[in-house]
Amino acid sequence: MRKVSVVLNSQAVIGDTDPRLFGAFVEHLGRCVYGGIYEPGHPTADEQGFRHDVLELVRELAPTIMRYPGGNFVSGYNWEDAVGPVDKRPRRLDLAWMSTEPNTFGTNEFIDWCRLADIEPMLAVNLGTRAGDAARNLVEYCNHPGGTAWSDLRKEHGWEKPHNVKFWCLGNEMDGPWQMEMKTAEEYGRIATEAAKMMKWIDPSIELAACGSSGRNMPTFGAWEDTVLQHTFPHVEWISLHTYVNNYAGDTPAMLASPDLMDGFIEEVVAIADSVAARAHSSKRIMLSFDEWNVWYRTRRNKAERVKPGWPVAPEILEEIYTMEDALAFGGMCLSLLNHADRVKCACLAQLVNVIAPIMTETGGPAWRQTIFFPFAQMSHFGRGRVLRAEVDSPTYAASYFDPRGKDDLYFPMPAVPYLKMAAVEDPETGAVTIFALNRHLEESMPLDVALKDFGTPSLIEALQLRHDDLKATNTKAHPDEVAPTALTGVSLSADRIQATLAPASWNMIRVGKP
Ligand code: AHR
Repeated sequence: MRKVSVVLNSQAVIGDTDPRLFGAFVEHLGRCVYGGIYEPGHPTADEQGFRHDVLELVRELAPTIMRYPGGNFVSGYNWEDAVGPVDKRPRRLDLAWMSTEPNTFGTNEFIDWCRLADIEPMLAVNLGTRAGDAARNLVEYCNHPGGTAWSDLRKEHGWEKPHNVKFWCLGNEMDGPWQMEMKTAEEYGRIATEAAKMMKWIDPSIELAACGSSGRNMPTFGAWEDTVLQHTFPHVEWISLHTYVNNYAGDTPAMLASPDLMDGFIEEVVAIADSVAARAHSSKRIMLSFDEWNVWYRTRRNKAERVKPGWPVAPEILEEIYTMEDALAFGGMCLSLLNHADRVKCACLAQLVNVIAPIMTETGGPAWRQTIFFPFAQMSHFGRGRVLRAEVDSPTYAASYFDPRGKDDLYFPMPAVPYLKMAAVEDPETGAVTIFALNRHLEESMPLDVALKDFGTPSLIEALQLRHDDLKATNTKAHPDEVAPTALTGVSLSADRIQATLAPASWNMIRVGKP
């Protein structure tokens, strides 16, 4: 491949990454909660039943905010079922995932787990089978200091101090026919507005996210965001976006190209939100919460895998085993988020453990890192700071990405996909720069030449690559380190310059300090 040139200028900045950009998601779904973060009786579990082997990996992954309790699950959830004495909590049928919910883990346990993990909690309210009344009661239960029935009930349950949850989602994917009590944009816009008003009357310090449509390919996309924001604009700070990338077509170059569609999706939602602001004659800017994103397809359409008969508790569903190739596409999604740090101020990797997750466990057994763990952990640790606007000159390829979500099966033509997808983040305190770079060419190495304007001669802090001869390689209980970062050798540094050779089909991180 010919040389790929990049110019970075510390004066050309996209935006600062918000710590909330590095969030994840815990849903009552399969073994995410039960057998995932929570497993009383596990050898590493504490007295609350929290698995500490999982907790250690979560700390290494470093998510900053955690969405809970769904997802589709929240649209049928009675939060009151899962607070108070555990032996009095009802078991319920969960119609989102056709399983039995024992409710032995609920809001208070989740908040305790977040505090232990040093993660900000994000709660979603049920705007499917329920509406504003249940939502406002939950805010009162969680955030009101005391002296009312709901806040005193929290104290009676053992949580004297308010939880002070700041970030709330107004339902989940309410345009999806799979949702319990899906809504039209008008219906949802009205219900979300009324819920938002009451929630903020109780606690004006909270921030609220309205549901965007559940995917860019939904027939509702675009008009949904416009209508919903016209209703909710004065009451919300955020609009949500969801994307799951796939390789149904067995077309790896197209899969690796697909994160570029996420860039377009983000830019379209920004345009719609700003158009609503313009029509409201408002300088307010709605920020984007990309509160579900990942690679997900093998366990998505396969109903036999998704639904286990007999209403089991915590069935093994959506346990996607991630490959090397998935980690590359996933890394591309990380780059899309970083490169929109000016408007995507919050994002949640869906999900955290076992269910389409970076961390896998065996119930009663060990926990290990999936391939997608590594780009996320690197982004969370080293993606904090000012994202620089990179000028990239890279050869391109043509791809056609198949995405079946929505009314019709769809192919997205992508005529000019740069082989290099990258992001660069400057640490404002030290001036150190981290380059995250994906070589999407499956056969050819990439000679990379990065010019750092007025930087001086950089010093190498660290250079890592994630690659494997077999794009279908996975990490398993037996071989938990089959796919893992290794040193990227041969990085050469000179005045205002970094040069490196990126292996075919590789994710790379190069960190350099000021001279
Ligand atoms: O993350 C899995 C599911 O995907 C969520 O429950 C839902 O919101 C989305 O469709």
